[in-house]
Amino acid sequence: MMNFLILGAGGREHAVAWKLAQSPLCDALFIAPGNAGTASCGKNVPLSANDFDAIARFCLEEKIDLVFVGPEDPLVNGIVDHFLADDTVKHIPLIGPSRQAAQLEGSKAFAKEFMMRHHIPTAAYREFQAGNYAEGIEYLKAHSLPIVLKADGLAAGKGVIICQSHEEAVKEFEQMIRQQKFGDASKKVVVEEFLDGVELSVFILTDGSDYALLPVAKDYKKIYEGDKGPNTGGMGAVSPVNFADAGFMRKVKERIIDPTMAGLKKDNIPYIGFIFFGLIKVKGEPLVIEYNCRLGDPETEALIPRLQNDLASLFLATARGTLSQETIKEDSRVACTVMAVSGGYPGDYKKGFPIQGLDGDTGESIVFHAGTSARNGETVTNGGRVCCVTSFGHSVEQAVNRSVQVMDKISFEGMYFRKDIGYEFR
Ligand code: AMP
Ligand code: GLY
Repeated sequence: MMNFLILGAGGREHAVAWKLAQSPLCDALFIAPGNAGTASCGKNVPLSANDFDAIARFCLEEKIDLVFVGPEDPLVNGIVDHFLADDTVKHIPLIGPSRQAAQLEGSKAFAKEFMMRHHIPTAAYREFQAGNYAEGIEYLKAHSLPIVLKADGLAAGKGVIICQSHEEAVKEFEQMIRQQKFGDASKKVVVEEFLDGVELSVFILTDGSDYALLPVAKDYKKIYEGDKGPNTGGMGAVSPVNFADAGFMRKVKERIIDPTMAGLKKDNIPYIGFIFFGLIKVKGEPLVIEYNCRLGDPETEALIPRLQNDLASLFLATARGTLSQETIKEDSRVACTVMAVSGGYPGDYKKGFPIQGLDGDTGESIVFHAGTSARNGETVTNGGRVCCVTSFGHSVEQAVNRSVQVMDKISFEGMYFRKDIGYEFR
């Protein structure tokens, strides 16, 4: 029996908590800081995922056997290195990479250089900063449209700008590098060729030498139906993805996953945890849009319910280096996740509105909380993405319809959700 600690507070963490709580290996489950939903799977702990000293102390007090790190910032900030440098907690395994390995997400320039070095297909690019600013302007002016600008560092999902004109590109470039639009994260900018295709999210869990391929998912980033409007953290997801057929996935494995694993070994970068390959399929061929060093949100809410393995066993095998002995088992049904967000999101929004109808779990549907908190016995909104419903179905259409039906019974002031998740597969 083991004690687990989950770091994070979103829908991804609720889905992981929901799954771990079902494991016969799970004794105590803690979530820091968690949300009103995770409180029904384990015990919420009022600690920030970025307060490494407090987390280490808590792990000792509660005899935590394994820590799952949900979001990217503690990983990029070096929580794994912090634990390894502390003799009192260095024996506690974390599911997540070191600070250096997390640079695959923490620095777009690092990720691009890694892909170039290991011949992993990705968009052509150049990187610029204050030192070669003038050269950058010339490069932009000669670049074909649209032009993709990416802040090098973490920018809470807002650091990618797709510019439709040279004027816009020059203006954004100036704001990113000279005005530090995204703070230090945009001191360096990656300028990239625009790729036109369909995106998908591929996840592996690796113990440093072997890996397990998880169910493939697709997320829907735009706020409005028909993929219109600004980008969000994600408005929904489906799993599996029918255009990721066996032939395409073979290319993904041979050209992307295996070279990434080999590249990490060659560069002497130990990697334990999840790798999220943000891929795009262009004329039948996979290319990497980005790496993330964690699970995706809301992809996790769609793929975890389809995972038939015991998640605690998978985590344990990852920590022990025995993942090669595990076989991933997927539910053959489709899962579709629909996310409800606060009015105004992804711009400014208010928090603290009471939420009704969150008790809609059925055999086929699960309600996961994202930005929620408990207040005087009520559940209230506490973020942009508030809650989501994942449903199974024999088709995407059936799964989405079930999620929408459960979502129709949930209400809070300003609530909005997309009813067209998975539209291209229906
Ligand atoms: P990211 O913040 O890296 O996840 O990028 C956000 C979104 O921008 C991606 O999901 C894509 O939809 C889009 N994007 C990023 N890079 C490119 C590219 N080179 N070509 C087309 N779209 C891109
Ligand atoms: N859904 C995309 C992400 O988690 O970054």
